[in-house]
Amino acid sequence: MADTGARKRTRARSARTVGERREAFNWQPVFIASVVAVILSIVVLVTVAADGASRGSGNPLPAVPAGPATEPATAPAAAGASPSPTAPPARPTPSPTPNADGAIVVACGDILAPLDKQHRLPADCEPPDLVQLPAEISAGGAQYLRREALDALLELFDAARLDGYSLAVNSSYRSYATQAQTYSSWVQLYGQEYADRTSARPGHSEHQLGTTVDVGARGLFLENFSGTPEAAWLEANAWKFGFIVSYQAGKEQVTGYAYEPWHIRYVGRDVAAEVHRSGLTLREYLLKR
Ligand code: DAL
Ligand code: ZN
Repeated sequence: MADTGARKRTRARSARTVGERREAFNWQPVFIASVVAVILSIVVLVTVAADGASRGSGNPLPAVPAGPATEPATAPAAAGASPSPTAPPARPTPSPTPNADGAIVVACGDILAPLDKQHRLPADCEPPDLVQLPAEISAGGAQYLRREALDALLELFDAARLDGYSLAVNSSYRSYATQAQTYSSWVQLYGQEYADRTSARPGHSEHQLGTTVDVGARGLFLENFSGTPEAAWLEANAWKFGFIVSYQAGKEQVTGYAYEPWHIRYVGRDVAAEVHRSGLTLREYLLKR
């Protein structure tokens, strides 16, 4: 009995000891760790969602510091950027996925593709149906445009001539490689910050579309063309022939580039009339489509 009593007492002590251990277990660190894990998961989810939204939204570009407005002159090889004999056909499907460089790659051959600092053409994109400009309107050697854009440009130049203005083309189609040279020559001359306000990086230039022209007059080009009667005429009339001045005055925060009254892009008469009516920059209009 004495032995049994001792065992009962021992069992009672053991039970108490176990119970006491259970009561003494500290849940506070487990609770804190769980709360921290939940908060971290929420932060990661919100960050990923915000990143995805900003890539697809076409938000205004980040601020670009103020400075002189000029488009870099075409690099020597650019003026005669002749197309290769076998241009690939237009590819209808744009890729919605940002590329390795962070840019969205747009369809080659689409004359309404948005091109800015976030959107670019494939490096091997050469537009179909490039034709050489007549020598009498081409300042600086052989130049090329897509057929439809050239037809419209000739009508525009004819109309300007009737109003007393003789316009010329200083630059038109520029291949990816030519644009790379143009951009890098301006980086070397004036530094990257300045070059980025005035020159598109390769793949990002509307000149690679084969529908874009830098207009000049009386030997004037680029910033020397600004403020001329010809520039005012172009601003007022280009849309009637299907062209839009892509980089308007006071819109650098929206377009990403300084004012370029000489740089016009062909989008077709209907779209140009809509852009003109809308009061939007071409970039805003194309991103909203
Ligand atoms: N100057 C314009 C931005 C271009 O290089 O295409
Ligand atoms: Zn231009």
